[in-house]
Amino acid sequence: MNPLQKEILKLKREKDALILAHYYQTMDIQEIADHVGDSFELARRAREAREGLLVLCGVRFMAESAKILSPEKTVLLPAPDAGCPMADMIEPHDVLRLRREYPDAAVVCYVNSSAAVKAASDICCTSASAVRIVRALPQRRIIFIPDQNLGAYVASQVPEKEIILFDGFCPTHHRVTESDVIAARKARPGAPVLVHPECRPEVLARADYIGSTSGILDRAERGDEPEYLIGTETGVVERLRARVPGKRFYIITPQLFCPNMKKTRLINVRDSLLYNEYEITLDDDEMDMARGSLEKMIEMGLHGG
Ligand code: 13P
Ligand code: SF4
Repeated sequence: MNPLQKEILKLKREKDALILAHYYQTMDIQEIADHVGDSFELARRAREAREGLLVLCGVRFMAESAKILSPEKTVLLPAPDAGCPMADMIEPHDVLRLRREYPDAAVVCYVNSSAAVKAASDICCTSASAVRIVRALPQRRIIFIPDQNLGAYVASQVPEKEIILFDGFCPTHHRVTESDVIAARKARPGAPVLVHPECRPEVLARADYIGSTSGILDRAERGDEPEYLIGTETGVVERLRARVPGKRFYIITPQLFCPNMKKTRLINVRDSLLYNEYEITLDDDEMDMARGSLEKMIEMGLHGG
């Protein structure tokens, strides 16, 4: 532990705060977190937290989800400009337009979205729960927003449903090409390719395993193979290298870097605890409407389908 990390842990105890970090955070941040998880686990942890102060090391939609699920708690986002470009690709009026076009459809909203878009949707999902949730819904027709790649993956796994896609994407995962996978396999023959469903369909078609960040970590940690090709953000590779020293992990392409996830530095976390920076505040009515979508996600993500 370096001095800044020690200072953070001391402040955390004094303030009785809970630090939650996403797997895409740098290792020094992951080390000081109480819980490191994928989007689904972070949302669940935030809701269950006993502490009144939550520090979310991730991007804005994650901190907003924590606030929506626990409106009585103070939720801090240490890097206030850490957004998710995919979340910014859709607005509530897009959801209303799609609803008018497909009145019988359920709107399933990837959690990488604003509070207003969640409020306009029927249920949220994360990459870990999307297939299960879509499969379990009673509607045959599903409007899936905003990620076209995750939506296409869900459609391939739940062929009995008609999935209406939106054209959003994650700039980081969408950059991976089929040629990247071919080249990576050539360089490391025998290493399984583990990818996130935010990658393009032609990339998924060449993968050995498709899953959320925690799914990829689990597959790589449990697998018998000595080396792995990782098709999600570099933070996952950092974590695997730190936790599983006996195996080798390679990123498929260095393009798999999310600049927003890397905006949180230790100094931001320290300042966030010292000065209560930067508090998430949302409109009460919007939170109430968005909460329904998130609560359903947690309920169905755990028990549904
Ligand atoms: P997970 O739901 O797998 O944590 O992914 C979140 C994310 O932002 C992926 O780019
Ligand atoms: Fe958003 Fe992509 Fe970054 Fe995840 S990796 S936070 S989807 S931009």
